[in-house]
Amino acid sequence: MKSYHIAHTDLVVSRIAYGCAGLGTWDNAALDANTVAAADRLIKTALDQGITLFDHADLYAFGKSEAVFGEVLKTSPAVREKIVLQSKCGQVFPKGWRPGDPIKVDLRGEHIVSAVEGSLKRLCSSYLDILMLHAPSPLIRPQEIAQAFEDLHRMGKVRYFGVSNYSAAQIKLLKKFVRQPLIVNQVHLGLLCADLLIDGMEFALALAKGAAPAREEHTAAGTFDYCRVQDMQIQAWSPLGADLFAVPTSRAPELNALVQSLTALAQLTNTTSAAVALAWLLHHPAGIVPIIGSTNSEHIVGNCAADRIMFRDEDWNDLFIAAADLSRRST
Ligand SMILES: NC(=O)c1ccc[n+]([C@@H]2O[C@H](COP(=O)([O-])OP(=O)(O)OC[C@H]3O[C@@H](n4cnc5c(N)ncnc54)[C@H](OP(=O)(O)O)[C@@H]3O)[C@@H](O)[C@H]2O)c1
Repeated sequence: MKSYHIAHTDLVVSRIAYGCAGLGTWDNAALDANTVAAADRLIKTALDQGITLFDHADLYAFGKSEAVFGEVLKTSPAVREKIVLQSKCGQVFPKGWRPGDPIKVDLRGEHIVSAVEGSLKRLCSSYLDILMLHAPSPLIRPQEIAQAFEDLHRMGKVRYFGVSNYSAAQIKLLKKFVRQPLIVNQVHLGLLCADLLIDGMEFALALAKGAAPAREEHTAAGTFDYCRVQDMQIQAWSPLGADLFAVPTSRAPELNALVQSLTALAQLTNTTSAAVALAWLLHHPAGIVPIIGSTNSEHIVGNCAADRIMFRDEDWNDLFIAAADLSRRST
């Protein structure tokens, strides 16, 4: 697996990461041996494929995803120094939370410090390589966050810091106060959610369609390019999305067209549609890191074939236009 150096750090990570949200069970049951054994298999499969970057958040499976990962690390302690371990904090499930209920955002300094301490305990690790704020908040107090980051860094509990789901302006605000470099922005990105790439490209898309470029159509919040300018690694969460694998008849025509193009490229490259969809992200010159979250070992192996797919710019553009058509339908 090819790797990337993350700017402003001594970290080198595989260019596909493994997202651990599915390692724990999303219920109130205690961790059991079967869950630990299944997680052990999935983590070993990811490691065998050359994945060295593992993504967590304190709230995944109500903390059980980190806990099960910690159990695996306990039995294979040598793994810890071979991987880059990142987690997030700031999203909080209110008591009795069920899917569909509101999720709170808590970015108070004391919450950030205690959330990291909880993650480290569950992960059986004395430090995180990267801590990300999981969401922005209208009540963000950047001075408080800067102090929390400072304390966590000084205590050796977090090596580097980043954000997730932040806009360019929100990152700029944090950077005004946070002393450490912000090295990552993890965002929702893929062929089913290409908005950050489409942003500001309306002119290019009109040209590609042979249409007259629309006047002043671009929104250009510019988050994607801002991250590039700042040398922040862009990580893509849910890069595939379950809709890609929905039954064809239940799919929108634009989604069917996209899936047909993926299938044709998969045949050409002797891989799968999922691998092509991931290779589409890898082909982008920004060095995007897709975070794959499959809980099926065969899918993990197949998806990692993306690392070996050589894309042509023309094919990339065709998929980009198909993704933009799909995005336009859903807005
Ligand atoms: N920062 C954030 O706000 C945020 C939000 C959400 C997620 N995340 C991170 O992103 C990670 C990945 O999320 P995800 O699981 O939604 O990503 P994903 O890799 O896009 O997977 C989405 C779905 O696609 C299926 N799939 C994957 N490969 C497949 C294949 N080859 N064939 C058929 N189905 C396939 C998976 O099912 P199978 O398990 O059956 O393969 C899964 O249900 C999470 O674990 C988490 O670390 C971050």
